[in-house]
Amino acid sequence: MNDFKNIVASDLLLCLKGISSEISLSVEEISDMFEYPPDPSLGDIAFPCFKLSKILRKSPVMIAQEISSELKSEVIAEARAVNGYLNIFASNDYLIKSVLYEIEDKKEKYGSDGSGVGKVAVFDYSSPNVAKPFHIGHLGTTVIGHSLKMLHQFQGYKCIGINYLGDWGTQFGKLIVAYDLWGDEKTVEERGVDELVDLYVKFHAEAEKDETLNEKARHEFTKLEHHDERNTKLWKWFVDISLKEYKKTYAQLGIEFDSYKGESFYTDKMPEQIEKLRELGLLKIDNGASIVDLSEYNMPPCLILKKDGSTLYPTRDIAAAVYRKRTYNFDKCIYVTSAGQSLHFAQWFKVVELMGYDWYNQLVHVPYGTVSINGEKLATRTGNVILLKDLFATAIDKVKDIINEKSPDLENKDEVAEAVGVGSVIFYYLYNNRIKDINFIMEDALSFEGNTGPYAQYTYARTCALLEKAKDIDVTATTPKITAPEESELLKVLSKFGEAVKEALKEYEPSVVTRYIIEVCSSFNKFYHNCPIISESDEVARNTRIRLTAATRTVLGSAFGLICIKKTERI
Ligand code: ARG
Repeated sequence: MNDFKNIVASDLLLCLKGISSEISLSVEEISDMFEYPPDPSLGDIAFPCFKLSKILRKSPVMIAQEISSELKSEVIAEARAVNGYLNIFASNDYLIKSVLYEIEDKKEKYGSDGSGVGKVAVFDYSSPNVAKPFHIGHLGTTVIGHSLKMLHQFQGYKCIGINYLGDWGTQFGKLIVAYDLWGDEKTVEERGVDELVDLYVKFHAEAEKDETLNEKARHEFTKLEHHDERNTKLWKWFVDISLKEYKKTYAQLGIEFDSYKGESFYTDKMPEQIEKLRELGLLKIDNGASIVDLSEYNMPPCLILKKDGSTLYPTRDIAAAVYRKRTYNFDKCIYVTSAGQSLHFAQWFKVVELMGYDWYNQLVHVPYGTVSINGEKLATRTGNVILLKDLFATAIDKVKDIINEKSPDLENKDEVAEAVGVGSVIFYYLYNNRIKDINFIMEDALSFEGNTGPYAQYTYARTCALLEKAKDIDVTATTPKITAPEESELLKVLSKFGEAVKEALKEYEPSVVTRYIIEVCSSFNKFYHNCPIISESDEVARNTRIRLTAATRTVLGSAFGLICIKKTERI
């Protein structure tokens, strides 16, 4: 109800100025002072009069009373003075003109404030490590990252999604050794990433018993770093195989990346930054390694070069950030990773600042908590992991069972099962505050009751089914009119979409949108159960309700898109 607040704020300002010439507040300041009453029956927005008490030298109770009799506006149904608060109710006229008509007019743009127009935002997310499993720990970076991209895009930002593949590092040495010892081409071709992961896991198990394996792996990686032909070919092959598989998962999620430039891409971009660090006198030698001392900032040193001169994770990140700034000239560059990497980001962001790059404060790290499944944590090295694709496959299978039981005649069953299955996992995950650790319980995620993805998708499908039935009715033949409290409640909820988007973006918190979706669904379902829609005999009420249903569909559809949930017209 941001624009409601703004409109009321300017009326209120006029009113206050009429009471006293000492009022020097701006419309924005007044608008920011509005609160939402704890119980909507008290009012849609409330204006606390306590702060004005000093300026006006009157009690808040008196001020509220005085304004309540003065404040008149088309958008206000009623302004009630209650204990120093002015509780304001939106008029039906406002709800129809500024909410319903606005949604109908702006359609999928409704709720966007255009605050990102002309700006560029880069998103570094998902970024699995090739040859290591793409597991549920990556769910967070993948779906939070993509949601943040969608939220920024919605507000008008030009967005670039980068999958910073972990396609470089000693794990390739390990994989090459493992492949030579226990692998073969045919099996890798057939089993793809699963085989690579098995080889990787086997390597670790065997290396526990045979120390020389690690030495061999380092040697193979060094060869790769020096462009050894065979190793380069194997490396490319491993990366291609992995990518092919990741893309299947991304397709299920409806995610496409604008760039797959992974860590390997920055090999030749690092020397320039290392040189700069050296020239600035920022590099210190510590036990043979080159570091940037960050003790002054209460952080351990940032490692730039190992003893043997090889580069590290932070070195590549610094080079990649400079490259992205030059390539995209971003206004923001957002990194989404588990909270376990927070120190890493804080360290190299500081190094970028010390290097004199004035855009250091455009770098944003967005951390998230851990995921366990039915209480179990995961560990990649022992192979005790749940792969993202398996998690989705399980969810899809379960939804298929439900569909076969409940609506066996549904067309495109597979498509629906995938949308609902994958959607349920995303929804369950994004319902939580991102920083919280999550214990994933599949039964809960898949439930059609409660605050779940299936419930939300089912509600969306319900709007579609109603609108399909109403498709031959000319709903514009009458002027809309609100006749039931459920209708105005629904419009009020719909009017808060823009605020939810704004807050989700500001806090880098997609869960604000997920929770908002539930608010819309419960408001719509209440309306649906209490108000006849197509069967309503009064033409004006019927047409209004159909239009409300369409407005709900529009807002839900946009909100789904913001959190990577596919729209299902039928379930
Ligand atoms: N590949 C890393 C991992 O799986 C995540 C990369 C995050 N992005 C970055 N620029 N460091 O842990």
